[in-house]
Amino acid sequence: MPFGLSLLLLLCCLLSKGASYWQFLKEHVDSYKIQGFDGNTYCDYIMERRGLTRPVCKATNTFIHAFTSEIQAICRGAGRCHGRNICDSNSSFFITTCWVAPGSRLGRCVYRGRSHTRRIRVACNQRLPVRFVRIL
Ligand SMILES: *[C@@H]1O[C@H](CO)[C@@H](O)[C@H](O)[C@H]1NC(C)=O
Repeated sequence: MPFGLSLLLLLCCLLSKGASYWQFLKEHVDSYKIQGFDGNTYCDYIMERRGLTRPVCKATNTFIHAFTSEIQAICRGAGRCHGRNICDSNSSFFITTCWVAPGSRLGRCVYRGRSHTRRIRVACNQRLPVRFVRIL
């Protein structure tokens, strides 16, 4: 394979691997949940802030309030993995689930939110979480 092409392939795949991990962080990780907001106000704020209200209001999304190292660990031995790199965390995480409320419309997304402490299921790629599958 010509050198240029292999370099291109290497770049593509490093970037795309990085891209899905960064996308996961952007969509699902908020290490320090802001205190003093109720779940609804928090979700209105964070969904907008993370770009999940454009072009349409994302119907539902879960945020994990933990350090990235703790979440990466699910893919690195602190999870029970099965199938195609699907891993269930051994321990519980503090999370907030946001869901769109009636009365939402384009350009004005309104959310409800509730926090829980639960085990979570993520998809891993090369020992990094790349997709939030669900709460267990
Ligand atoms: C997580 O659970 C699996 C399966 O029970 C176990 O093999 C593994 O050692 C656990 N990891 C940690 C860090 O507790």
